Amino acid sequence: MIWLVGNKGMLGREMEALLRRRRLNFIATDREVSILEPAALRRHAAGTPVAWIVNCAGYTAVDKAEDEEDLATEINGRGAGCLAELAAELDAGLIHVSTDYVFDGRKAEPYLEDDVTNPLGAYGRSKLKGEEAIRASGCRYVIVRTAWLYGTAGPSFVHTMLRLMNERDSVGVVDDQIGSPTHTGDLAGALLAFIEKDGASSGVYHYSDEGRISWFDFAREILRAGSEAGLVTRRCRIDPIASAAYPARARRPAFSLLSKEKIRRELDLVIPRWDRSLRRFLTEGFRRWNET
Ligand SMILES: NC(=O)c1ccc[n+]([C@@H]2O[C@H](COP(=O)([O-])OP(=O)(O)OC[C@H]3O[C@@H](n4cnc5c(N)ncnc54)[C@H](OP(=O)(O)O)[C@@H]3O)[C@@H](O)[C@H]2O)c1
Repeated sequence: MIWLVGNKGMLGREMEALLRRRRLNFIATDREVSILEPAALRRHAAGTPVAWIVNCAGYTAVDKAEDEEDLATEINGRGAGCLAELAAELDAGLIHVSTDYVFDGRKAEPYLEDDVTNPLGAYGRSKLKGEEAIRASGCRYVIVRTAWLYGTAGPSFVHTMLRLMNERDSVGVVDDQIGSPTHTGDLAGALLAFIEKDGASSGVYHYSDEGRISWFDFAREILRAGSEAGLVTRRCRIDPIASAAYPARARRPAFSLLSKEKIRRELDLVIPRWDRSLRRFLTEGFRRWNET
């Protein structure tokens, strides 16, 4: 039995849809069984043969976290630890999602799993605390660091861009942060592959879709593919801007490409290119999810 935690979030919804399509046995919870309440978690698990806990819950407001670091750390740090301790008690495996924001972005080559972490902001620090708590718990775990997620449930960069492109004549987008957009459906498939393999070594893995682009490149492709799919219905220009000209509350890594060699080897994964996944999402996923 799989216990999906955080099934009402963007990734959690996608994971739940995948588990349903594969007709797997699972239970799913979100806020109603808080990951901060060990007794409630234990009660919920009682009598259920939980073999895997998949944690898609978290505090994900990157900018707000700068003003709410205690809350972010409570949920992403202590909450992840509570789930890990429960997993250890139940002898279940924990699959947990972390982030590229644990790195400072000063590298020029894709980040490896054991590269030194050095988060630039509160959100990254809180996620790193979660990773540490999981390691300390003694449970069997897989921590998958991922990046630049977008998905059917949103909200995401893709949703915001499509809205702005339909409202404005031009949109400025930063062109000095490099990474890889990742569709939640692709990530959910990778998370499930760990369960299907059921023997992967405990540890940290990196997953993103393939490719190396800036947010500006991403926006241009959203415009092109979104227009073809009939989701952008007026002309709009995308202007490249520097991060310094777009002050956000939280600092973000300028370079957050993740090396996927380890996960590719471990799971024999074929990782889709970001632009193929984006096109598929805009032609199939976006309408399906936003009209139902
Ligand atoms: N989005 C990205 O670009 C990105 C990139 C890298 C890594 N990640 C990681 O990927 C994971 C999923 O991200 P996402 O974007 O799908 O997140 P999301 O949409 O914000 O979903 C998180 C879910 O967790 C729930 N939650 C919050 N506190 C909880 C608690 N105490 N107990 C139980 N549930 C709680 C949230 O409920 P409320 O909505 O009520 O708060 C929400 O339903 C997170 O671990 C995130 O750090 C995301």
